[in-house]
Amino acid sequence: MKLETPGLNAEHEFTEAARAAVYNAIFSRRDVRGQFLPDPVPDAVLSRVLTAAHFAPSVGYMQPWSFVLVREPAVKERIHAAFREANAEAAQMFEGAKQEIYRELKLEGIREAPINLCITCDRDRAGPVVLGRTHIKAMDIYSTVCAVQNLWLAARAEGLGVGWVSIFHQAALRETLALPPRVFPVAYLCLGYVSHFYQRPELEAAGWRQRLPLEELLHFDRWGEDGGEAAEALKRQVRSDQNAATSGGTFPAKE
Ligand SMILES: Cc1cc2nc3c(=O)[nH]c(=O)nc-3n(C[C@H](O)[C@H](O)[C@H](O)COP(=O)(O)O)c2cc1C
Repeated sequence: MKLETPGLNAEHEFTEAARAAVYNAIFSRRDVRGQFLPDPVPDAVLSRVLTAAHFAPSVGYMQPWSFVLVREPAVKERIHAAFREANAEAAQMFEGAKQEIYRELKLEGIREAPINLCITCDRDRAGPVVLGRTHIKAMDIYSTVCAVQNLWLAARAEGLGVGWVSIFHQAALRETLALPPRVFPVAYLCLGYVSHFYQRPELEAAGWRQRLPLEELLHFDRWGEDGGEAAEALKRQVRSDQNAATSGGTFPAKE
């Protein structure tokens, strides 16, 4: 079935099924740590998710990302050792019961995932002055994060799990992967087929934190302004959409 979107002619419009698939990928994407299968990821599939990452938006069309694919067990072992060291330090930073929960959490799948992938940002990729990045230098990092998210969603559509591991001293990552100084490691990802995807974030299920109500995160025109009565309909709608996204993973047909 075709939608009727203002301003779009039919060839640019998503079908209802395509639109639902996009939301389904967004709502059912999970951070995966413990469910990786050893099955190899075919190059054709890997190529598609990398291509999805490469089609991310970037400041000044800088495309600052590169992709370090890690498959050698020896390299994974070194990365895992770096994780263990940082994770032991991290555990100490939480008090009492939180520390106990923290120690129970599995926060990486480095050795089990058939592919590890470091997505980096070359801070000099497009010369010293980059369109759009003249005043906020971190825009190249934000662009790289967009590539990570593209890959994460494409992976979900391919039935691949992705887990982001950030508990490292960056120097250890840099050294193990031989990154040049201008290249910044943005994301260290574990990637592979999985036995299943959880319906809820694992941290939510473990009682660490719950998803915040979106309506409480909305401000109108200025920080702290609740928008008054004119905002009520939108707030009601986001409440209902958040419930739908939480329970079913998609939205009903477009009105
Ligand atoms: C920047 C970033 C860093 C993260 N680092 C870790 C990590 O080191 N270990 C881990 O288990 N999960 C990590 N995560 C995953 C989050 O815990 C996860 O996204 C969050 O709990 C929500 O769950 P969901 O992704 O399944 O929806 C990271 C996520 C992001 C975006």
